[in-house]
Amino acid sequence: MEKNILVAAAWPYVNGSLHLGHVAGLLPADILARYHRSKGDKVLYVSGSDCHGTPILVTAEKEGKNPADIASRYHDEFVEMLIKKLGFSYSLYTKTMGDFHKAEAQKIFSTIYEAGYMTPHEEQQAFCSQCQRSLPDRYIEGRCPNCGAENARGDQCDSCGHVHDPSSLINPRCRNCGTNPIWQSSTHLYFNLPVFEEKLKNWVKQQKGWRNNAFTMTEGWFQRGLQERPITRDLIWGIPVTVPGYTDKCIYVWFEAVMGYLTCSKEWAAQQGTPDAWREWWENDDAFHYYVHGKDNIPFHTILWPAMLMALRLHLPDQIVSSEYLRLEGLKLSKSKGIAVWLPHALEKFESDAIRFYLTLNGPESGDISFNWRDFQHRVNGDLVGNLGNFWNRTFSMANRYFGKVPESSDFDEVSAKLLEDANIIFTAVGDHIERAEFRQALRLVLEFSQRGNGYINEREPWKQIKDNEKHAQQTIYVCCQIAETLRRLSAPFIPHACEKISRFLKTDDLAWRFTLLPANYAIEKPTAAIAKIDAAIIDEELSNLEEAKKQ
Ligand code: MF3
Ligand code: ZN
Repeated sequence: MEKNILVAAAWPYVNGSLHLGHVAGLLPADILARYHRSKGDKVLYVSGSDCHGTPILVTAEKEGKNPADIASRYHDEFVEMLIKKLGFSYSLYTKTMGDFHKAEAQKIFSTIYEAGYMTPHEEQQAFCSQCQRSLPDRYIEGRCPNCGAENARGDQCDSCGHVHDPSSLINPRCRNCGTNPIWQSSTHLYFNLPVFEEKLKNWVKQQKGWRNNAFTMTEGWFQRGLQERPITRDLIWGIPVTVPGYTDKCIYVWFEAVMGYLTCSKEWAAQQGTPDAWREWWENDDAFHYYVHGKDNIPFHTILWPAMLMALRLHLPDQIVSSEYLRLEGLKLSKSKGIAVWLPHALEKFESDAIRFYLTLNGPESGDISFNWRDFQHRVNGDLVGNLGNFWNRTFSMANRYFGKVPESSDFDEVSAKLLEDANIIFTAVGDHIERAEFRQALRLVLEFSQRGNGYINEREPWKQIKDNEKHAQQTIYVCCQIAETLRRLSAPFIPHACEKISRFLKTDDLAWRFTLLPANYAIEKPTAAIAKIDAAIIDEELSNLEEAKKQ
């Protein structure tokens, strides 16, 4: 039965280029969207650029620029990288500084306020007497109240992930000049999370299929007990609150960014000319919602946003696809030390399918994973080009050379019949893994099937069969054509660009997720490779660049 599927992918901050760690976290969303579309579901795949908050302000100040200019520059870059190059097939990729999101976020904020879920509290606001300015969370650092790590940020600790208010830091300092801030009072609105605590706990208990890290981190929050959280800020860069009495403040960036999933759905609906269409996903118990992000985003998607959705009476998340971290050659990514693979660079050197392929096969699904350059080269050359690409190439080359078409065959020996039967079954097997967000395993099944296809060719040796017994050659190539077509459909969510080439070659745009025969006598031309090998010399260069970065 056709379903309404929401794929909600995290909104990256526009404060710097994306790197492969971001791709590892966001890629599952595109795989899910493409898979569900080919299954015939109604997919709404939303995301955009997260433009507000202090990270952007910090970058802007460092570069002596206006935050809006920084945001626009990186937003354009993200669109180029994510959509044009990586092929992420969003229904809409928008930005939080757009007028649509702004107006909707203000409305949603007011709705939650009017429903009685916000309480004013007088708060101590950090102020740096040296710099003569109020200090937002990220402008303060100090010792983490949870784990004791030094240099925890004002809003979150990078070492233990603890989310806190800057006033709870031990020995807080102005990030800019190191002065201990002084605290002034300011009245902020707090979101009343504790009233949702029981409901949230019951809801989490009923969830299946979240990644383990999401359960663990959420449980940790429950154990510590939910607290009211301030959701207004004394900031100049953000969406102004419209609730009377608070109009000099901005909405806390996380509180408005998570709303993006809903506002983007509405914006998409408005652009389609069906402004109410978003309701099919958000006011529908039978819809299914995937949330895709990195593990540092978990509590915002398993506690904060669900509580907001409870307040709004809208569909709650169904599956949390929260990736672990990607390391680089075993090292923790570090922007400042240059330990990262920047996306604009990577996409200049490598085909985007090569990156998609490796980050799926070697994705940080259940533990941190290392991106290793040499392994990248070997996997792409061996498994993607050498196994899958080669199978397509061999099959279509022989079909072209011997018959100029898919040969006719109706009589199958046991091995051939079993292959055809398994080509039928494999769609469910791969699909089940994708739906459980087990992408590594899903892709492995596809590769194994291709491997079997190659083994079948090796064993039958159609280049001999064609001389000895044409009927046998026909059978072999016919079966191979069906496997090749099956692999085209199965691999489309993972490597859409290579698939697109095969589709153009076969003159089809049918990607339905089911076994479908390439009819006998279907014309087959001489194929060209769907994907190229990676040159070892390029990898040598990357490795030596990394060695340089490590020295610094
Ligand atoms: N900008 C955040 C980050 O890069 C992610 C925001 S996701 C959303 O970590 F929920 F706010 F949309
Ligand atoms: Zn200062």
